[in-house]
Amino acid sequence: MSVVIVVGAQWGDEGKGKVVDLFTERADVVVRYGGGANAGHTLVIDGQKLVTHLVPSGVCHPGKSCVLGDGMVIDPHTLLEEVALCQARGLLLRGELLVGLGAHVILPYHKLLDGLREDRAAKTGKAIGTTRRGIGPAYETKAARKGVRVRDLLKPARLCELVAANIDEIVPLINHLGGTPPSTAEVETWIEDALAAGQKLAPYTGEASRHVARAIAGGQHVLFEGAQGCLLDLDHGTYPYVTSSSTIAAGACQSAGIGPTAIDAVVGITKAYATRVGSGPFPTELHDETGSRLRNAGGEFGATTGRPRRCGWLDLPALRMGARLSGMTHLALTKLDVLGEMPEVSVCVAYKVDGKEFDEPPIDPDDIARAEPVYTSFPGWGRLPSEARDVTDLPTPARVYVETIERMAGVPFCLVSVGPDRNETIRLHDPFG
Ligand code: GDP
Ligand code: IMO
Ligand code: MG
Repeated sequence: MSVVIVVGAQWGDEGKGKVVDLFTERADVVVRYGGGANAGHTLVIDGQKLVTHLVPSGVCHPGKSCVLGDGMVIDPHTLLEEVALCQARGLLLRGELLVGLGAHVILPYHKLLDGLREDRAAKTGKAIGTTRRGIGPAYETKAARKGVRVRDLLKPARLCELVAANIDEIVPLINHLGGTPPSTAEVETWIEDALAAGQKLAPYTGEASRHVARAIAGGQHVLFEGAQGCLLDLDHGTYPYVTSSSTIAAGACQSAGIGPTAIDAVVGITKAYATRVGSGPFPTELHDETGSRLRNAGGEFGATTGRPRRCGWLDLPALRMGARLSGMTHLALTKLDVLGEMPEVSVCVAYKVDGKEFDEPPIDPDDIARAEPVYTSFPGWGRLPSEARDVTDLPTPARVYVETIERMAGVPFCLVSVGPDRNETIRLHDPFG
């Protein structure tokens, strides 16, 4: 039995989807924990692309159990669309999907509030740059103990009562934010739609925590799939420019209802450079031609919103912080091939603030925002052979880069990815042992 958590080590979009798909070969159960359809995880298998937003990225391995943990916030329509898309491809046809009855539901008013807040904040340059998927407002309702859970979609009277109470509270807020409160007819339609979605989802719902606990007790391999990245964690990320859930490894235990003693390994996924979508400090961001080159070479456009991602050099202080927060036992390095497009490659090894050097981000977020990166440079290595399956297949400068990053991050690599396809991977260590 092995229980492995995969987390994003940076600000999201590190390639978690690709790695989770690969690791699912060895898993029996794959559990998405935390967040909702703000995530966009890309899988490429023999040139065929699939982007998952809610369904675990193990979905392409028929027969493996795919669980949505109770800590998630689920837009039922997005989930149904995704399930239909998967089923059209012959996936999720054998009862593989299990949606936690305790997960919270994103309703249209959560998305409305998300958008109104962002629009208002944008006027003063303070927008978070959320995905506008209603994530923050849904977690707020949950924390206020007034949320609608998946189980409530199956009980019409309870759903009506909860929605009515939510609407009653948010109408003044919608007015304050300059929005138009929903009419009674509109709210009725929202409730009808939610009930209809609940009926369709009912066969997939169940007790996620017990299901995962039984799998672990039965000696099965369980893989937890994180969304977003450690630096976007609600408690430990670059607050307030974070998401509203726990994205670090501990979030897997919290969301799935599994004790931390069950965990055997934590794999952090990091790009060979850095990207961020939305606002917030990003010390190694490149605002120049080099940044655009990285964006184009890496296809750095959001898998969920299509927004261009901010691009910069690999940030070791941020990576070390992610590794510490999640207790990473291994790192997986992705997109090494993209750096092959660069004539020279830099890496931030420390931050300098007021003449003082930091090997992890300073505590005060204002200090992170004004931190000056201290760089080390590497010669470029040109196009990588996409058929590289061993580090010895890499050109020497690329190999030196990988070995140096591994040493400076202080966490061993279990995998180096040299292309988006499942096969374009150098495997170094199997986290399932
Ligand atoms: P996730 O949210 O962490 O799953 O990552 P995304 O799917 O949002 O973004 C990662 C992007 O990089 C996707 O388009 C992947 O297909 C792609 N990708 C993953 N690994 C590699 C790699 O090693 N090389 C290249 N060129 N692309 C990769
Ligand atoms: P995956 O799982 C990258 C970012 C948003 C915004 C902030 C808050 O694909 O790596 P939210 O909608 O969650 O309230 O937005 O978090 N963000 C992500 N950035 N990848 C993601 O997911 C993200 N999910 C949220 O851009 O800055
Ligand atoms: Mg993504």
